[in-house]
This record gives sequence, structure tokens and C-alpha cells, in this order.
Amino acid sequence: MENDAINIQPETERILAIDDSKINLVLIKNILSKKYNVTAVTSGKAAFRYLENNTVDMILLDLRMPEMDGFEFLDIIKKDERLKEIPIICLTADDDRDSELHCFELGVQDFITKPVVAEIMLMRISRILELERLQSGLRAEVDRQTKELHRNNRKLHRLTTQVMITLAGTIDAKDKYTNGHSERVAEYSRMIAERCGMTEQEQEDIYYIGLLHDIGKIGVPDEIINKTSRLNDEEYAIIKTHPMIGAEILEKMSELPDIAVGAKYHHERYDGRGYPEGLKGEEIPLIARIIGVADAYDAMTSNRSYRDVLPQSVVREEIDKCIGTQFDPVFAKVMLEIIQNDTDYNLREKKKIAGN
Ligand SMILES: [Fe+2]
Repeated sequence: MENDAINIQPETERILAIDDSKINLVLIKNILSKKYNVTAVTSGKAAFRYLENNTVDMILLDLRMPEMDGFEFLDIIKKDERLKEIPIICLTADDDRDSELHCFELGVQDFITKPVVAEIMLMRISRILELERLQSGLRAEVDRQTKELHRNNRKLHRLTTQVMITLAGTIDAKDKYTNGHSERVAEYSRMIAERCGMTEQEQEDIYYIGLLHDIGKIGVPDEIINKTSRLNDEEYAIIKTHPMIGAEILEKMSELPDIAVGAKYHHERYDGRGYPEGLKGEEIPLIARIIGVADAYDAMTSNRSYRDVLPQSVVREEIDKCIGTQFDPVFAKVMLEIIQNDTDYNLREKKKIAGN
């Protein structure tokens, strides 16, 4: 009974033998043809012509040849993107160590000294081809795993964004007058960051921070959040707890520590009259100063129970008026630039169409 291993042998490998001596080529063919598919050519030029239309798994290269010698052949093939990875074994009649060293430097895999001994030649070829199979298998596996990793990363990234947006949606759902507020604040904050020259990663972080800045509203009773009449002092005090509640909830997101910071300080004012800590100017963390501007902008450009979206000119004047009091001057001016460019006044809550 034949060995099972025979069944898993790959298809016959193709070897290109290059030698100016026809006798040598006949000898090589005789030794290798039982196991391999051998093509023999008598010059480097003939080899390149053959390689134009054929692929091979290995090249046996005689070093001493007229016209184009083995070194010249190596020089050319190693510069050819399509051919440079083909494993090459050199055939040499002498034991010139310098030639061997030079060949190894040029990327040759192995040497066989002439006159060839059949068993040694077969073993060396088989060893190199086996190594090549393992390497190309490994390369394919690394390639496959890298692609899968990228696919998973992209999926994870999309999922993170979707989870954040969903969470932001649950916050906004509590307040029937602020539909889509968190997503808009996130987008306006990201736009400010972009205009300030922040990196894509920083812009993305700010987007996430904006999405969850109001998450603390989860801890505020619905009746207070949705009250249309004026809030009394006690109710206002409860509303003012939402930044701290948000910070406590978000503290666990250690991968993005600024997310808790954004929630905690987004109601601070540049003049120190905000809450919860009454921080002033640049004591207020930068991301909170950005969100503060974006948050106020969205409040003015979204519908309320008692009014529609404010006209763009009014919004512009209001932001301008509050530079240095409510808003950080740098980010307020950036917001004014964004408004200036928004000639069709697209950056606002769109009116809901009746029935939808
Ligand atoms: Fe808020």
C-alpha cells in the first residue's frame, strides 16, 4: 500500500534550468524529470524570454556562461517585481568563496557544485521548494489575518459609533424638545476641532465626547426636563446636577477619559459664572469650552415649544455678544466663521414634517 503522504503532494513543480552546456542540461533533466517539470535553456536571455509567458517555481542557474553570466542574470531578475521572488539555486564548477558570498548577497537561496551528485541535487531542491511552500503559506496566512484584523477593526469602530449614537438618542428621547441635540452638538464640536487644525483622532474623540455630554440628564426626572413653564429654584438645582451625574457615569470609560471631563464642564462659562465648579477662562478644559459653544449654538438653532429656530443673524449676534463672557473667544470666533460659511443656513434642526 502506498504512503498516504503521496496524496497530499502539491502538483508537479516547474524548474527552469539555465546552463550554456547542453550536456549539463541533459544531465539535469535526467536527474530531475521524474519528480519535476523541467525546462532547459542555454542562456540568460532565453530564460527571460521564457519567463515572459511562463511561471516557474525555481531556477537552476549556471554562474559561468558567455554573453550574460549568472551574476548579470541575478542583477536583472532581482530588480524585476514579478520575478524577484523566484527561488534560485546556483550551479558552480569551482569552490570560489567570493562568488558564493556575492550570490548570497544577491539573494540566491543555495549552491550546488558541479559535477552534480544526483541525490544531493534532489535533496537541496526539495528542501528549498519545501521552505518556499512554507514561506508562501505563512505569507498568505499573515495576509489573511491582517485583512481580517482590519475588517474587525472597522466593524468595531462602526459598532462603537453606533452604540454612542444610540446612547445619545436615549438621552435625547427623554427630552421631547431636544430631538437629535446630542448628535448635532457632537458634529458642531467636531467641526470646530477640525477648523482649529486638530488631528482626525482628536476630532473623532471630540465627536464622541459631544455625543454623550448630556448623558447625566438620565438622572434628572422627566417632569423637570420636559417642563415648559419656568423652573423653580429647586428644579433648576436638580437640572444643574446633570454634568456631575454624567461625569460619574462616564468615568468608567477609561479608554476616553476626556469624555467624563466634557460632560462635567460643558456648562462652565468663560467668565466663571457657570456650573458645577465655576471655573474661569482656561481653567475650563479645552474640550468643554468647545462643547459649550456648540451646545449653545444648537440651543439657538433648534425648535423649542415656545419658538422656532432663531434667524441666523440673531444667532450670530448672540454668539458675538457672549465672546469672553459665556464663550471662549477662540472657539466662539471659529463658530462665527462656520456660521459665515453656512450661507444656506443648513446647520440647524430641520423642521419636522407633519405626519412623520
Ligand atoms: Fe447640558
